[in-house]
Amino acid sequence: MTPYQILGLGSFIPAKSLSNDDLAKIVDTDDEWIVTRTGIRSRHVLDDSQNTSDMGALAAQQALNNAHISPDQITHVIVSTCSPDHLCPNTACLVSYQLGIKGAMAFDLNAACSGFLYGLEVAGGILANRPDAVVLFVCAEALTRRVNWEDRTTCVLFGDGAAAAVLARSPQGLAQVTEVCCHADGRSPDPLSIGGGTAFHVKNGDPVDENFFIRMEGREVYRNGVRRMTEMCVQILEKTGLTTEDIDVIIPHQANLRIVESVASRLKAPMNKVFVNLDRFGNTSAASVPIALHEAMEAGRIPAGARVLLTAFGGGFTYGSAILQFSAPDAAD
Ligand code: UT7
Repeated sequence: MTPYQILGLGSFIPAKSLSNDDLAKIVDTDDEWIVTRTGIRSRHVLDDSQNTSDMGALAAQQALNNAHISPDQITHVIVSTCSPDHLCPNTACLVSYQLGIKGAMAFDLNAACSGFLYGLEVAGGILANRPDAVVLFVCAEALTRRVNWEDRTTCVLFGDGAAAAVLARSPQGLAQVTEVCCHADGRSPDPLSIGGGTAFHVKNGDPVDENFFIRMEGREVYRNGVRRMTEMCVQILEKTGLTTEDIDVIIPHQANLRIVESVASRLKAPMNKVFVNLDRFGNTSAASVPIALHEAMEAGRIPAGARVLLTAFGGGFTYGSAILQFSAPDAAD
Protein backbone atom coordinates (compact mmCIF):
# COMPACT_ATOMS: atom_id res chain seq x y z
CA MET A 1 0.00 0.00 0.00
CA THR A 2 1.00 3.66 -0.33
CA PRO A 3 1.93 4.78 3.19
CA TYR A 4 0.32 7.90 4.66
CA GLN A 5 0.40 9.79 7.94
CA ILE A 6 -1.82 10.19 10.97
CA LEU A 7 -1.49 13.95 11.58
CA GLY A 8 -3.46 14.06 14.83
CA LEU A 9 -5.68 11.99 17.10
CA GLY A 10 -8.57 12.85 19.41
CA SER A 11 -11.08 11.01 21.58
CA PHE A 12 -14.20 11.56 23.62
CA ILE A 13 -15.50 9.44 26.49
CA PRO A 14 -18.90 10.27 28.04
CA ALA A 15 -18.64 11.41 31.68
CA LYS A 16 -21.10 8.92 33.18
CA SER A 17 -19.43 5.70 34.32
CA LEU A 18 -21.39 2.55 35.16
CA SER A 19 -19.62 0.10 37.48
CA ASN A 20 -20.18 -3.66 37.69
CA ASP A 21 -21.86 -3.09 41.06
CA ASP A 22 -24.24 -0.59 39.40
CA LEU A 23 -25.13 -3.28 36.82
CA ALA A 24 -25.68 -5.89 39.53
CA LYS A 25 -28.57 -3.72 40.74
CA ILE A 26 -30.45 -4.03 37.42
CA VAL A 27 -29.53 -7.52 36.13
CA ASP A 28 -28.58 -10.89 37.67
CA THR A 29 -24.78 -10.53 37.66
CA ASP A 30 -21.92 -9.63 39.98
CA ASP A 31 -18.55 -7.90 39.88
CA GLU A 32 -16.61 -11.14 40.36
CA TRP A 33 -18.19 -12.86 37.32
CA ILE A 34 -17.69 -9.88 35.06
CA VAL A 35 -14.08 -9.24 36.12
CA THR A 36 -13.09 -12.92 35.98
CA ARG A 37 -14.71 -13.64 32.60
CA THR A 38 -14.02 -10.33 30.84
CA GLY A 39 -11.65 -8.06 32.79
CA ILE A 40 -14.22 -5.24 32.57
CA ARG A 41 -14.78 -3.19 35.76
CA SER A 42 -16.77 -0.24 34.40
CA ARG A 43 -17.96 1.32 31.15
CA HIS A 44 -19.11 4.79 30.10
CA VAL A 45 -22.67 5.56 29.05
CA LEU A 46 -23.75 8.38 26.77
CA ASP A 47 -25.99 11.07 28.22
CA ASP A 48 -29.61 11.07 26.92
CA SER A 49 -29.08 14.50 25.40
CA GLN A 50 -26.29 13.28 23.06
CA ASN A 51 -26.01 10.86 20.15
CA THR A 52 -23.24 9.02 18.30
CA SER A 53 -22.63 12.03 16.01
CA ASP A 54 -22.12 14.34 19.02
CA MET A 55 -19.39 12.10 20.43
CA GLY A 56 -17.85 11.80 16.96
CA ALA A 57 -17.80 15.58 16.48
CA LEU A 58 -16.15 16.15 19.88
CA ALA A 59 -13.44 13.58 19.18
CA ALA A 60 -12.98 14.98 15.65
CA GLN A 61 -12.59 18.56 16.89
CA GLN A 62 -9.82 17.41 19.22
CA ALA A 63 -8.10 15.51 16.39
CA LEU A 64 -8.29 18.61 14.14
CA ASN A 65 -6.81 20.79 16.91
CA ASN A 66 -3.99 18.31 17.54
CA ALA A 67 -3.27 18.06 13.81
CA HIS A 68 -3.41 21.87 13.34
CA ILE A 69 -5.89 21.35 10.52
CA SER A 70 -8.96 23.53 10.03
CA PRO A 71 -12.37 22.20 8.93
CA ASP A 72 -12.07 23.89 5.52
CA GLN A 73 -8.99 21.77 4.73
CA ILE A 74 -10.93 18.49 5.09
CA THR A 75 -11.82 16.82 1.77
CA HIS A 76 -13.34 13.54 3.04
CA VAL A 77 -15.17 12.57 6.23
CA ILE A 78 -15.56 8.90 7.14
CA VAL A 79 -17.42 7.67 10.21
CA SER A 80 -16.99 4.03 11.23
CA THR A 81 -19.98 2.98 13.32
CA CYS A 82 -22.50 0.20 13.77
CA SER A 83 -24.61 2.44 16.01
CA PRO A 84 -25.35 5.43 13.76
CA ASP A 85 -27.80 8.17 14.77
CA HIS A 86 -30.07 7.13 11.87
CA LEU A 87 -30.19 4.75 8.88
CA CYS A 88 -30.26 8.01 6.90
CA PRO A 89 -28.75 10.64 6.95
CA ASN A 90 -25.35 9.13 7.55
CA THR A 91 -23.44 10.08 10.69
CA ALA A 92 -20.55 11.56 8.68
CA CYS A 93 -22.89 14.27 7.30
CA LEU A 94 -24.03 15.09 10.85
CA VAL A 95 -20.42 15.27 12.10
CA SER A 96 -19.48 17.48 9.12
CA TYR A 97 -22.39 19.80 9.88
CA GLN A 98 -21.39 20.13 13.55
CA LEU A 99 -17.80 20.97 12.65
CA GLY A 100 -18.68 23.40 9.87
CA ILE A 101 -17.11 21.18 7.20
CA LYS A 102 -18.75 22.12 3.91
CA GLY A 103 -18.50 20.25 0.63
CA ALA A 104 -16.35 17.34 1.81
CA MET A 105 -17.49 13.88 0.69
CA ALA A 106 -19.00 12.24 3.79
CA PHE A 107 -20.01 8.63 4.34
CA ASP A 108 -20.38 5.95 7.02
CA LEU A 109 -18.61 2.61 7.08
CA ASN A 110 -19.90 -0.36 9.07
CA ALA A 111 -17.37 -3.06 9.90
CA ALA A 112 -18.48 -3.42 13.55
CA CYS A 113 -15.49 -3.66 15.92
CA SER A 114 -13.01 -3.80 13.01
CA GLY A 115 -14.15 -0.33 11.91
CA PHE A 116 -10.84 1.43 12.61
CA LEU A 117 -8.82 -1.03 10.50
CA TYR A 118 -11.37 -0.96 7.66
CA GLY A 119 -11.36 2.85 7.72
CA LEU A 120 -7.56 2.96 7.54
CA GLU A 121 -7.70 0.74 4.45
CA VAL A 122 -10.43 2.85 2.78
CA ALA A 123 -8.65 6.12 3.62
CA GLY A 124 -5.44 4.64 2.18
CA GLY A 125 -7.26 4.06 -1.13
CA ILE A 126 -8.60 7.61 -1.17
CA LEU A 127 -5.16 9.06 -0.39
CA ALA A 128 -3.45 6.90 -3.04
CA ASN A 129 -5.99 8.11 -5.62
CA ARG A 130 -6.03 11.75 -4.45
CA PRO A 131 -2.65 12.61 -2.90
CA ASP A 132 -3.85 16.08 -1.78
CA ALA A 133 -6.84 14.75 0.18
CA VAL A 134 -7.12 15.35 3.93
CA VAL A 135 -9.35 12.71 5.50
CA LEU A 136 -11.14 13.14 8.80
CA PHE A 137 -11.72 9.61 10.05
CA VAL A 138 -14.03 9.17 13.04
CA CYS A 139 -14.99 6.03 14.97
CA ALA A 140 -18.00 6.57 17.23
CA GLU A 141 -20.31 4.11 18.97
CA ALA A 142 -23.27 4.38 21.33
CA LEU A 143 -23.83 0.66 21.83
CA THR A 144 -25.49 1.11 25.23
CA ARG A 145 -28.44 2.49 23.21
CA ARG A 146 -28.87 -0.98 21.64
CA VAL A 147 -28.08 -3.08 24.69
CA ASN A 148 -30.88 -5.21 26.13
CA TRP A 149 -30.54 -4.29 29.81
CA GLU A 150 -32.38 -7.53 30.69
CA ASP A 151 -29.77 -9.71 28.94
CA ARG A 152 -26.86 -10.25 31.33
CA THR A 153 -24.85 -12.09 28.67
CA THR A 154 -24.39 -8.88 26.65
CA CYS A 155 -25.31 -5.78 28.68
CA VAL A 156 -22.21 -6.04 30.88
CA LEU A 157 -19.84 -5.95 27.91
CA PHE A 158 -20.40 -2.72 25.99
CA GLY A 159 -19.66 0.97 26.50
CA ASP A 160 -19.87 4.24 24.55
CA GLY A 161 -17.10 6.44 23.17
CA ALA A 162 -15.47 7.95 20.11
CA ALA A 163 -12.06 8.64 18.63
CA ALA A 164 -10.85 10.39 15.49
CA ALA A 165 -7.78 10.73 13.29
CA VAL A 166 -6.75 13.25 10.63
CA LEU A 167 -5.08 11.39 7.75
CA ALA A 168 -3.02 12.75 4.85
CA ARG A 169 -0.06 12.07 2.54
CA SER A 170 2.57 14.19 4.27
CA PRO A 171 6.34 13.97 4.81
CA GLN A 172 5.77 14.31 8.56
CA GLY A 173 3.11 13.47 11.11
CA LEU A 174 2.42 11.65 14.33
CA ALA A 175 2.72 8.19 12.83
CA GLN A 176 2.92 6.57 9.43
CA VAL A 177 0.28 3.99 8.47
CA THR A 178 2.66 1.47 6.95
CA GLU A 179 0.43 -1.49 6.16
CA VAL A 180 -3.19 -2.59 6.65
CA CYS A 181 -4.85 -6.02 6.26
CA CYS A 182 -8.65 -6.41 6.31
CA HIS A 183 -10.85 -9.45 5.68
CA ALA A 184 -14.36 -10.75 6.33
CA ASP A 185 -16.13 -14.07 6.76
CA GLY A 186 -19.85 -13.37 6.33
CA ARG A 187 -22.34 -15.59 8.15
CA SER A 188 -26.09 -15.96 8.42
CA PRO A 189 -27.52 -16.14 10.98
CA ASP A 190 -24.84 -13.92 12.44
CA PRO A 191 -23.57 -14.93 15.89
CA LEU A 192 -23.34 -11.20 16.68
CA SER A 193 -26.06 -8.82 15.52
CA ILE A 194 -27.76 -5.52 16.23
CA GLY A 195 -31.33 -5.05 15.00
CA GLY A 196 -33.06 -1.97 13.66
CA GLY A 197 -32.39 -2.40 9.93
CA THR A 198 -35.00 -3.29 7.30
CA ALA A 199 -34.86 -7.00 8.14
CA PHE A 200 -36.46 -5.92 11.39
CA HIS A 201 -40.14 -5.74 10.38
CA VAL A 202 -41.99 -3.16 12.39
CA LYS A 203 -45.14 -1.10 11.82
CA ASN A 204 -45.98 2.17 13.47
CA GLY A 205 -47.05 1.43 17.05
CA ASP A 206 -45.50 -2.08 17.24
CA PRO A 207 -43.43 -2.81 20.35
CA VAL A 208 -39.82 -3.84 19.67
CA ASP A 209 -38.76 -7.39 20.58
CA GLU A 210 -35.37 -8.80 21.65
CA ASN A 211 -34.14 -8.91 18.02
CA PHE A 212 -33.96 -5.12 18.10
CA PHE A 213 -31.04 -5.26 20.53
CA ILE A 214 -27.49 -6.64 20.52
CA ARG A 215 -27.53 -10.44 20.45
CA MET A 216 -24.42 -12.55 20.69
CA GLU A 217 -23.37 -16.18 20.87
CA GLY A 218 -20.50 -15.36 23.20
CA ARG A 219 -18.44 -18.56 22.93
CA GLU A 220 -18.61 -18.68 19.12
CA VAL A 221 -17.57 -15.03 18.91
CA TYR A 222 -14.82 -15.58 21.48
CA ARG A 223 -13.29 -18.54 19.58
CA ASN A 224 -13.34 -16.68 16.27
CA GLY A 225 -12.01 -13.50 17.88
CA VAL A 226 -8.89 -15.22 19.20
CA ARG A 227 -8.32 -17.13 15.95
CA ARG A 228 -8.86 -14.23 13.54
CA MET A 229 -6.95 -11.55 15.47
CA THR A 230 -3.99 -13.91 15.78
CA GLU A 231 -4.17 -14.70 12.04
CA MET A 232 -4.34 -11.01 11.18
CA CYS A 233 -1.24 -10.23 13.25
CA VAL A 234 0.70 -13.11 11.70
CA GLN A 235 -0.43 -12.09 8.20
CA ILE A 236 0.64 -8.45 8.52
CA LEU A 237 3.97 -9.39 10.14
CA GLU A 238 4.71 -11.77 7.26
CA LYS A 239 3.63 -9.17 4.69
CA THR A 240 5.99 -6.56 6.16
CA GLY A 241 8.86 -8.97 6.89
CA LEU A 242 8.64 -8.27 10.62
CA THR A 243 8.45 -10.49 13.71
CA THR A 244 6.73 -9.97 17.06
CA GLU A 245 10.10 -8.82 18.46
CA ASP A 246 10.08 -5.89 16.00
CA ILE A 247 6.81 -4.62 17.50
CA ASP A 248 7.03 -2.22 20.46
CA VAL A 249 3.34 -1.94 21.37
CA ILE A 250 0.30 -4.07 20.49
CA ILE A 251 -3.12 -2.43 20.64
CA PRO A 252 -5.87 -5.04 20.20
CA HIS A 253 -9.65 -4.64 20.14
CA GLN A 254 -10.77 -4.20 23.75
CA ALA A 255 -13.53 -6.82 24.10
CA ASN A 256 -12.32 -9.27 26.71
CA LEU A 257 -9.02 -9.51 28.63
CA ARG A 258 -8.95 -13.30 28.17
CA ILE A 259 -9.16 -12.85 24.38
CA VAL A 260 -6.35 -10.27 24.48
CA GLU A 261 -4.16 -12.57 26.62
CA SER A 262 -4.78 -15.55 24.31
CA VAL A 263 -3.82 -13.56 21.23
CA ALA A 264 -0.66 -12.23 22.94
CA SER A 265 0.29 -15.72 24.07
CA ARG A 266 -0.17 -17.17 20.55
CA LEU A 267 2.03 -14.37 19.17
CA LYS A 268 4.57 -15.05 21.96
CA ALA A 269 4.28 -11.38 22.94
CA PRO A 270 4.69 -10.44 26.62
CA MET A 271 1.65 -8.68 28.10
CA ASN A 272 3.79 -5.64 28.96
CA LYS A 273 3.83 -4.88 25.22
CA VAL A 274 0.03 -4.97 25.06
CA PHE A 275 -2.07 -1.89 25.85
CA VAL A 276 -5.30 -2.67 27.71
CA ASN A 277 -7.99 -0.20 28.82
CA LEU A 278 -11.11 -2.40 28.56
CA ASP A 279 -11.26 -2.52 32.37
CA ARG A 280 -12.52 1.11 32.34
CA PHE A 281 -14.32 1.37 28.98
CA GLY A 282 -15.65 -2.11 28.11
CA ASN A 283 -16.15 -2.89 24.43
CA THR A 284 -16.68 0.32 22.42
CA SER A 285 -16.70 -1.55 19.08
CA ALA A 286 -15.21 0.50 16.22
CA ALA A 287 -14.01 3.15 18.69
CA SER A 288 -12.13 0.67 20.88
CA VAL A 289 -8.79 0.52 19.01
CA PRO A 290 -8.46 4.28 18.32
CA ILE A 291 -9.55 5.22 21.87
CA ALA A 292 -6.85 2.86 23.17
CA LEU A 293 -4.31 4.20 20.65
CA HIS A 294 -4.97 7.79 21.71
CA GLU A 295 -4.91 6.93 25.40
CA ALA A 296 -1.68 4.92 25.05
CA MET A 297 -0.06 7.86 23.28
CA GLU A 298 -1.25 10.42 25.84
CA ALA A 299 -0.11 8.15 28.69
CA GLY A 300 3.42 7.99 27.23
CA ARG A 301 3.08 4.27 26.49
CA ILE A 302 4.20 4.73 22.87
CA PRO A 303 7.85 5.83 22.75
CA ALA A 304 9.11 8.01 19.89
CA GLY A 305 10.00 5.85 16.90
CA ALA A 306 7.86 2.95 18.14
CA ARG A 307 6.31 0.40 15.81
CA VAL A 308 2.71 -0.34 16.82
CA LEU A 309 0.59 -3.31 15.79
CA LEU A 310 -3.22 -2.90 15.81
CA THR A 311 -5.72 -5.72 15.46
CA ALA A 312 -9.49 -6.11 15.75
CA PHE A 313 -12.34 -8.54 15.23
CA GLY A 314 -16.08 -7.96 15.13
CA GLY A 315 -19.56 -8.77 13.88
CA GLY A 316 -19.86 -9.95 10.31
CA PHE A 317 -17.35 -11.48 11.00
CA THR A 318 -14.88 -8.75 10.10
CA TYR A 319 -11.23 -8.62 11.14
CA GLY A 320 -8.06 -6.74 10.40
CA SER A 321 -4.68 -5.45 11.45
CA ALA A 322 -2.43 -2.47 10.80
CA ILE A 323 1.14 -1.41 11.47
CA LEU A 324 1.93 2.16 12.51
CA GLN A 325 5.42 3.61 12.58
CA PHE A 326 5.56 6.47 15.09
CA SER A 327 7.81 9.38 14.25
CA ALA A 328 11.32 9.50 15.67
CA PRO A 329 12.10 12.56 17.88
CA ASP A 330 13.97 14.49 15.14
CA ALA A 331 11.21 13.83 12.57
CA ALA A 332 8.49 14.96 15.01
CA ASP A 333 10.24 18.32 15.75
O1 UT7 B 1 -16.65 -7.00 19.90
C1 UT7 B 1 -16.92 -8.18 19.23
C2 UT7 B 1 -16.30 -9.23 19.89
N1 UT7 B 1 -17.02 -9.66 21.08
C3 UT7 B 1 -16.37 -10.44 21.86
O2 UT7 B 1 -15.22 -10.65 21.63
C4 UT7 B 1 -17.08 -11.12 23.00
C5 UT7 B 1 -16.70 -12.58 22.95
N2 UT7 B 1 -17.26 -13.42 24.00
C6 UT7 B 1 -16.90 -13.26 25.30
O3 UT7 B 1 -16.18 -12.37 25.66
C7 UT7 B 1 -17.39 -14.30 26.28
O4 UT7 B 1 -17.92 -15.41 25.59
C8 UT7 B 1 -18.47 -13.74 27.26
C9 UT7 B 1 -17.83 -12.77 28.21
C10 UT7 B 1 -19.58 -13.07 26.49
C11 UT7 B 1 -19.06 -14.90 28.08
O5 UT7 B 1 -18.01 -15.58 28.79
P1 UT7 B 1 -17.96 -17.17 28.79
O6 UT7 B 1 -16.86 -17.56 29.66
O7 UT7 B 1 -17.91 -17.61 27.34
O8 UT7 B 1 -19.32 -17.56 29.49
P2 UT7 B 1 -20.53 -18.42 28.91
O9 UT7 B 1 -21.27 -17.68 27.85
O10 UT7 B 1 -20.05 -19.79 28.58
O11 UT7 B 1 -21.47 -18.51 30.18
C12 UT7 B 1 -21.07 -19.21 31.37
C13 UT7 B 1 -22.14 -19.04 32.43
C14 UT7 B 1 -23.56 -19.31 31.93
O12 UT7 B 1 -24.28 -19.94 32.97
P3 UT7 B 1 -24.49 -21.52 32.95
O13 UT7 B 1 -25.26 -21.82 31.68
O14 UT7 B 1 -23.13 -22.14 32.95
O15 UT7 B 1 -25.28 -21.76 34.20
C15 UT7 B 1 -24.13 -17.94 31.71
O16 UT7 B 1 -25.54 -17.89 31.84
O17 UT7 B 1 -22.14 -17.66 32.88
C16 UT7 B 1 -23.48 -17.16 32.84
N3 UT7 B 1 -23.42 -15.73 32.58
C17 UT7 B 1 -23.36 -14.82 33.56
N4 UT7 B 1 -23.33 -14.92 34.90
C18 UT7 B 1 -23.25 -13.79 35.62
C19 UT7 B 1 -23.39 -15.11 31.39
N5 UT7 B 1 -23.32 -13.77 31.57
C20 UT7 B 1 -23.29 -13.58 32.92
C21 UT7 B 1 -23.21 -12.42 33.72
N6 UT7 B 1 -23.18 -12.56 35.05
N7 UT7 B 1 -23.14 -11.18 33.19
